[in-house]
Amino acid sequence: MSKITVVGAGKYGSTTAQRLAEMDIVQEVVLTDIVEGLPEGIALDMNQSGAIEGFDTLVVGQSDGYEKTAGSDVVVITAGLPRKPGMSRMDLLEVNAKIVGDVSRKVLDGSPDAVFIVVSNPLDEMTALCRQVTGLAHPRVLGQAGMLDTARFTTFIAWECGVPAREVQALTLGSHGDTMVPVPSACKVGGKPLPDVLSSDAIDALVQRTRDGGAEIVGLLKTGSAYYAPSSAAAAMVQAVITDSGVQMPVCAWVTGEYGISDVYLGVPALLGAGGVREIVELDLTGEELGNLKGAADAVRAKQSDVASLL
Ligand code: LAC
Repeated sequence: MSKITVVGAGKYGSTTAQRLAEMDIVQEVVLTDIVEGLPEGIALDMNQSGAIEGFDTLVVGQSDGYEKTAGSDVVVITAGLPRKPGMSRMDLLEVNAKIVGDVSRKVLDGSPDAVFIVVSNPLDEMTALCRQVTGLAHPRVLGQAGMLDTARFTTFIAWECGVPAREVQALTLGSHGDTMVPVPSACKVGGKPLPDVLSSDAIDALVQRTRDGGAEIVGLLKTGSAYYAPSSAAAAMVQAVITDSGVQMPVCAWVTGEYGISDVYLGVPALLGAGGVREIVELDLTGEELGNLKGAADAVRAKQSDVASLL
């Protein structure tokens, strides 16, 4: 039997659970939260949607512990607070470190062989923390950010060019924050290089909107942060792991010498499979893109090594 656990039944967690149930790729999706009745209620509601949507996945909710998560193949950590308008992701560091550290340890007990996918913010630091707390091999712990940032960049390019998103190929690497690294050399519109289609000023404006993409939505929602695109991104990563597909995605992964960068969790292209990260893919970046990626690594490395001191 294959099983996925989603920790945190807020909007991000519950939408991720719903997408995974509708994919119908595992027997069970377990949703947990500390709010009594919340994951159980959501699970009941979601199971009843199965009669219409036509999926067989059983959704299980648990708010009084983690026993039902035992034996999970993949664990998605969404626990923690979202941003409020005006906050940066880094403002959540201390409060979310305690939450992510605590739940990672508890879920690991029953699922020592799982792949952990972290989505809580600040993303790069929370992924590093989950790895430190669980002691799992680095490829088994990864974070979701690049898929989301890339989806935002793709959308903005498609709108600017007046084409469907499927005609756009885009890529962002680096951190999920100020040092996000767009990769124009890997971006194409209808098969043409992005710099041949848009001016550099237009590209810069889209990059800035992508970098601020989460904050733009937080500002509009007033309470809570984005969850439709984030949950699509997380569910796609889970699917790659569960199906052992080997598909390439931009993810937050432990880098060990690729791109001349070491010992840091950073957004890079990687092949995903049953063991998590199968391999980090080294693209042919321009000198400027590579410099920006190294800059992003330097910006997040120090905070990542200190993060366990916040527990
Ligand atoms: C965002 C949050 C989920 O970028 O990090 O919307």
